[in-house]
Amino acid sequence: MSAVSFIFSGSSHPHLAKEITNLSGISLGKIHLHFFPDQEIFVEILESVQGKNVFILQSLAKNPNLHLMELFIILDALKRASVASVTLILPYLAYARQDRIDRPGTPITAKLIADLLTQAGANSVITMDLHSAQIEGFFNLPVQQVFSRTLLIPYFQTLQLDDIVIVAPDKGGIEMASAYARELKAPIALIDKERMNSFYVKMRLFAGDVEGKTVILPDDICSTAGTLVSAANMCADFGAKRIIAAIGHGLFIEDALEKIDKSAIEMVITTDSIPVSEQVAKHPKIRIVSIASLFAEA
Ligand code: R5P
Repeated sequence: MSAVSFIFSGSSHPHLAKEITNLSGISLGKIHLHFFPDQEIFVEILESVQGKNVFILQSLAKNPNLHLMELFIILDALKRASVASVTLILPYLAYARQDRIDRPGTPITAKLIADLLTQAGANSVITMDLHSAQIEGFFNLPVQQVFSRTLLIPYFQTLQLDDIVIVAPDKGGIEMASAYARELKAPIALIDKERMNSFYVKMRLFAGDVEGKTVILPDDICSTAGTLVSAANMCADFGAKRIIAAIGHGLFIEDALEKIDKSAIEMVITTDSIPVSEQVAKHPKIRIVSIASLFAEA
């Protein structure tokens, strides 16, 4: 079997790629990424990769369409240089929330992305906190999923919280919430969420009790923070004494940071699956746990 040789990084998250290479001992592959004046992307692999098993790291966040196209082109360049296999390290998989037809005339874009990546020649995928379990099955290739809770739960344990209740902010979050509840030996409460539009959600607590408790709110993604802040404020209205969020992917779009600041949330613990901006790093309520060790091990 050919030895693993390089991790090639797209432009989305070079910092994480560097950290993973440092921890895993796998070399960072030299690559030239360039835009032509008309914004077409050009890629040149500057290593000898023939017969080698290689990785590409690309976090498909913030500018997903550009990062996807760049990923396809890197993949093509590597295949044409006769690599033995390519494993995609996708800390954040874009379009994962479009995983079902929720009304007539809508696509299943997560399935389309899985098909496109397979067709482009990927041999396997390593990713984290998929929005739903069925996405693994969209790929006709091996998918290894790692979970942010492997790192976040030990973080919570260091906080020595008492009277914990895990609150699932929507039906899709029940699996993640149950995993936290099992590990932290805590009861669970459930919220019924109705999304009115991309920015506004309506919520009601329909099972469990949060009064006088420390609420842990786990979710796979915080994008506009609409879900998180509504859930937290509702828990506060119902008498929760502390509210701490555990987020796999901190996108923090638009005024998410401001909303978190003004909300009843005491702390948001999240990862660096998405590049951490200066505002996020400096936010008084946000703590970042690095996932480099999780991927280096995988
Ligand atoms: C939805 O199903 C997801 O699990 C997240 O709750 C959602 O994507 C968060 O988005 P936002 O922060 O914009 O409410």
